[in-house]
Amino acid sequence: MLLLLLSLLLPPTLSLTCIPLNTTTTPLSLHLLTQFCVGHLNSLTPNSFYTLGSNGVQFPTSETNDQFWLDVLHPEYPVTLKSPVDFIINDCFPSINNFIEYDFDTQREFEPILVTLCVSLNALPVSVNSDVKIMEALEGMRMVKNVTYEWENKSNLGIVEEVFEEYKEGFVKGEVVKIDPGYRWDGGKTPLIYHLTKDMDYSIVDFAVQNRLFTFFLANGCVPLTADHRVEEKIFRHFKKGSSTTAVYGYDDSVPLFGGDTYEAETNCVREHDIGQVASTAVDNVNFYNTSGQIENLEPNPIPVVEYDPEKTYVAFIVGDGDNFWHLKNNHMKLFNERQTLCLDDPESCFPMSWSIAPAAAKYMSDIIRYYDGIAKNTTKDYFVLPPSGSLYSYPGLFPSDVQDDYINTMDKDMKVYNTRVSVHWEWFYNWRHAISTYFTKWSEFATSPRGFVLANVPYLLPVWIFRGKEYRMVGDNVVLFKPNEWRYSSQKQSHTTEEMADILNGFEKGYITPVYMTIDGSLEPIQATHDLVTKYLDDHVEIVTAESLVDLVIEKEATAQAVKK
Ligand SMILES: *[C@@H]1O[C@H](CO)[C@@H](O)[C@H](O)[C@H]1NC(C)=O
Ligand SMILES: *[C@@H]1O[C@H](CO)[C@@H](O)[C@H](O)[C@H]1NC(C)=O
Ligand SMILES: *[C@@H]1O[C@H](CO)[C@@H](O)[C@H](O)[C@H]1NC(C)=O
Ligand SMILES: *[C@@H]1O[C@H](CO)[C@@H](O)[C@H](O)[C@H]1NC(C)=O
Ligand SMILES: *[C@@H]1O[C@H](CO)[C@@H](O)[C@H](O)[C@H]1NC(C)=O
Repeated sequence: MLLLLLSLLLPPTLSLTCIPLNTTTTPLSLHLLTQFCVGHLNSLTPNSFYTLGSNGVQFPTSETNDQFWLDVLHPEYPVTLKSPVDFIINDCFPSINNFIEYDFDTQREFEPILVTLCVSLNALPVSVNSDVKIMEALEGMRMVKNVTYEWENKSNLGIVEEVFEEYKEGFVKGEVVKIDPGYRWDGGKTPLIYHLTKDMDYSIVDFAVQNRLFTFFLANGCVPLTADHRVEEKIFRHFKKGSSTTAVYGYDDSVPLFGGDTYEAETNCVREHDIGQVASTAVDNVNFYNTSGQIENLEPNPIPVVEYDPEKTYVAFIVGDGDNFWHLKNNHMKLFNERQTLCLDDPESCFPMSWSIAPAAAKYMSDIIRYYDGIAKNTTKDYFVLPPSGSLYSYPGLFPSDVQDDYINTMDKDMKVYNTRVSVHWEWFYNWRHAISTYFTKWSEFATSPRGFVLANVPYLLPVWIFRGKEYRMVGDNVVLFKPNEWRYSSQKQSHTTEEMADILNGFEKGYITPVYMTIDGSLEPIQATHDLVTKYLDDHVEIVTAESLVDLVIEKEATAQAVKK
């Protein structure tokens, strides 16, 4: 009796099964099945299964990084390691007795929509020619569909439409997952590769399954008048909630142009579908990182009061790419720790640093964001701002009017979560004037306190012609747009070494107020590089401030200029 009582009083036993996925040796079909099973089982018992490593193609997540988060966030979890095959046979099969047979070799293109069908029918996607042990274990299971046969003569488009019509009601609204299978089977003869270097990234499948998000892919969905467009239009119309933007998880890398993935932010569909992206390619275990629950409000470090001195130049560093879950989980981890070490080793030389962080991360990866907030509190000089372009990785200047209104409301709430007034903002080069006369004008009517937008142009090599000889532009009394000033290393142009960057910043006329937006997808190491810049190369008149302070400084500078005019 006493024992029983004791066992009732003790917290439930924590236990975690970890499944290492070696991206070189684990077959892709096994990857998909594993991610599916993890999502399914975690939806029954949250945080019980965790993968180590994810394929991610362009951006694999190493086992070490997954292990890092496990160790710092949940050192108390006793861990059992299991191979993917063991895990599937011993943990997953007993929980779902159904499977759908497909053929990985010829049907890879259908995998995104197959995930959706499997969620709908509570069945597992199992490819023919899977591991022998899996094939043997299938004997006791029920095949609910054989799509090797049923989809034999069908196109992806036809299947997406069919599955959507039949099962759409079973999925949540406001969000969808779009994963590029990187591959297309053309009538069983020629494989057409969407993107030569890529294959489907399954890392987000656990998340899609656990959160019941409609998952699909159509390559030409945004090209008007195509059949794909007609179907995609129907899908997005169904999943849209009121006048809100629909969040698309994934990363659209199907059109590689201009040295990047041109439509990676789902930009060629914005006007048609009112969508924005949560860049989430190659991130596994997302749901595992919000055991502490959604963040409502982070107390920031106090913002130092900086009084405008026309003899100085003011610079704020912003670490970029925080819109992207993969960077948040992998790169930011390395950078935040580097930053903490530098600041704690030498507090004298620790200057303010602003970090772009996706609002969706406060909702879905709150543990990781809280960890970074802990570092910010330790250095006392780190701050969070919204990434491009605000609530979602998007181009708000392209949104229709009602969607812009809704977006501003959402973004205002997101700014409160991170306690910031600043957002990085990018637009297509041709759209700035339109963005000012619609979106930023709406912001100026909406905002009762100052807001700052750090602009970046797409493509980034082109200049933005809206600044009339100044380093910023005001819209109304409260909205400050900052002229693009980016720092990236890469093999391409507009890459500056630390010395070159110092020359640029030292060379600005006195009184100049500017952000430096640092993208890290090149080889720039922003923490070490800014540290070198500040400690070795910048002149004394250059003062490093927070991105928040830039906004106040501009308003002060404007007021001074007005007073001089009078
Ligand atoms: C994955 O497998 C390859 C090939 O066997 C091996 O070289 C590599 O070390 C493995 N990676 C991990 C993280 O175990
Ligand atoms: C599924 O269909 C394929 C293609 O018609 C066939 O070769 C295979 O035997 C079928 N699988 C089962 C378990 O019936
Ligand atoms: C697919 O097409 C082939 C050739 O026309 C035909 O033999 C086969 O029965 C078709 N499969 C299905 C599932 O209709
Ligand atoms: C994790 O995020 C999702 C989405 O907001 C939420 O539904 C879920 O309750 C969160 N988990 C916790 C422990 O709060
Ligand atoms: C912040 O500093 C405290 C005290 O030194 C330390 O225990 C903690 O681990 C640090 N936080 C992070 C996230 O590293």
